[in-house]
Amino acid sequence: MSILTRLIGGRRRRQPQPQTPSRPGTVFPPPRQPDPDALPFEIRPLVDSDLVSLPTLFRDSILGLADNDYDPEQLQAWVSHAGSPDFTEALTRGTTVVALQFGRPVAFAQLAPADYLNMLYVHPDAAGEGIATLLCQYLEDEARIAGTQQLLTHASKTAHRFFKTMGFVGDIPEDVKRNGEKLVRYRMEKKL
Ligand SMILES: CC(C)(COP(=O)(O)OP(=O)(O)OC[C@H]1O[C@@H](n2cnc3c(N)ncnc32)[C@H](O)[C@@H]1OP(=O)(O)O)[C@@H](O)C(=O)NCCC(=O)NCCS
Repeated sequence: MSILTRLIGGRRRRQPQPQTPSRPGTVFPPPRQPDPDALPFEIRPLVDSDLVSLPTLFRDSILGLADNDYDPEQLQAWVSHAGSPDFTEALTRGTTVVALQFGRPVAFAQLAPADYLNMLYVHPDAAGEGIATLLCQYLEDEARIAGTQQLLTHASKTAHRFFKTMGFVGDIPEDVKRNGEKLVRYRMEKKL
């Protein structure tokens, strides 16, 4: 196992809900408990085999999680990038880290250059478990180690609130063109 590999217990997004006060004759289910089988997951640097699996993960993430925020033409324009050699080449830049659950890549993120969080994609089956939070924290640490004082990202509409939760600021929408389609995103910054 690489020294960069970290085993991390994930944080479940949904906490057990407080029980509603009982009414006579009503039976309520017990509060939800975290699923111990889903934990922990592993974060490791990019390896060669990821160049085959991450384009599909990128597509699945966008089509499964961003479909409430963008129309089908915009989604197709966004995912079309995954089929190009540029995308594979881009994965090898900077620091790219991959989260594995049960040995399978379920998310990845990239810092490139050291002050820019360039990619963050989670598979829909692994969403809401805190994986993006941990990948983001991992790369924030990498950026600090590199001496970065302010981290920049361009957040999708889907990720805008997530990045706010992570302490990034920036609410002004801007358009970016992807394969002829205009997509809204937000320039966001975080002081480290
Ligand atoms: C945005 C994304 C990376 C979040 O991944 P995730 O692993 O589900 O995020 P986490 O589980 O770490 O969530 C952390 C917090 O952000 C919140 N959050 C996550 N996604 C959110 C969303 N779409 N809208 C609002 N809040 C969101 C969660 O509620 C959680 O808050 P909590 O811990 O207080 O409950 C994921 O939805 C994704 O991959 N989206 C599609 C691709 C994309 O847009 N990537 C970003 C490109 S810039």
